[in-house]
Amino acid sequence: MTLPLPTYFADFLQDIRPTKAQRAEMIDGYSRLKERLQSDAQLKTGFVSMFLQGSYKRRTAVRPKDGKKADVDLIVVTRMKESEFTPAEAMACFRPFLEKYYHDKYRQQGRSFGIVMSTVEMDLVITAAPVEAEAGVYSAFAKSEDVLQIEEDESQPIVKTDSNGNPQWKSEPLRIPDRDLGAWQDTHPLVQLSWTSQKNARCSGHFVNVVKALKWWRLVHAGALPDRPKSYPLEHLIGDCCPDGISSVAEGVVRTLERFTQSYALHAANTHAPYAPDRGVDQNVMARISGDDFAKFHAQVAAAAKKARQAFEAPDAQTAAPLWRELFGDKFPRAPEPGRGSPPQGNFTPHQGGPGMVGSGRFA
Ligand SMILES: Nc1ncnc2c1ncn2[C@@H]1O[C@H](COP(=O)(O)OP(=O)(O)O)[C@@H](O)[C@H]1O
Ligand SMILES: [Mg+2]
Repeated sequence: MTLPLPTYFADFLQDIRPTKAQRAEMIDGYSRLKERLQSDAQLKTGFVSMFLQGSYKRRTAVRPKDGKKADVDLIVVTRMKESEFTPAEAMACFRPFLEKYYHDKYRQQGRSFGIVMSTVEMDLVITAAPVEAEAGVYSAFAKSEDVLQIEEDESQPIVKTDSNGNPQWKSEPLRIPDRDLGAWQDTHPLVQLSWTSQKNARCSGHFVNVVKALKWWRLVHAGALPDRPKSYPLEHLIGDCCPDGISSVAEGVVRTLERFTQSYALHAANTHAPYAPDRGVDQNVMARISGDDFAKFHAQVAAAAKKARQAFEAPDAQTAAPLWRELFGDKFPRAPEPGRGSPPQGNFTPHQGGPGMVGSGRFA
């Protein structure tokens, strides 16, 4: 028997998305940075475009826990040629600009610059466009994307598509300078974006929410889990395990955890992380995950899969909600006590069909 409780998940998801204030600060910071790059005397001739990437853009970002800052990933496409600049030199070109506008607010990382704002940190990755024709593609892509339209409507395509649902932007990988390795490397953010957009469409808009729910599960259980896999590598594995055609977030969560448990049982037994080819370039997304960590993570997923299945098949909200709360913590709404006419506290909206009623729908 299943429950007509889509608003439980809707309310939970509402509470784990980046906040309105974080979104507003991100849009503000992004717009200001772009104007500065376009008008800076030193950089403007080499500047091609800037666009959002990462989990924020893919709508798979969760609100950071414990007062940490939300991280927003930005790609800056330049005309720099890798034949003329070492990675360290390419990054150094941006230092006078950052000193001028973001003095004391930026720090250099191996492959990016972090610009710290009050609730958000912008992570700026500098790239070289491999050929001039590609500069045009990335420029047009950036123009077509309106950062102000970062929507909460997760059923909308993440990138613009043609009438067949294929991405409008066919592009070659970009090259990023890795200062620590002293080498330029491929990256292809548009392919990760369009893969996610298409997967989300095959999952009726639920995929990005399954990712957020499971990333939140990882945060809630951080004490029992190894530090990795997390963020993109975890999202990638969820992408490989989440079945197409799911009709609710709850179904996606249960079936993803179950498929993860099955698919990687042998890897876990052999303490090997799986090989997971990047969607866009020839790289192993799991390269930094140790076999031991993967096996520990797998054991926790297997336990979570059982609990999620129990919650999904529970006969009523009073049974289901505490199980979901074991998985997702106290951001998941409590069920009202049986017989009460209204929810016991204000952290969730009235639920369709009356509190705790059993009906024909599934959790959404
Ligand atoms: N191991 C990896 N393999 C492929 N792409 C990666 C990897 N790590 C990060 N990325 C890319 O860089 C983006 C920004 O990294 P990060 O902020 O760490 O992840 P996220 O924003 O997904 O939490 C990711 O969203 C992903 O597009
Ligand atoms: Mg990020």
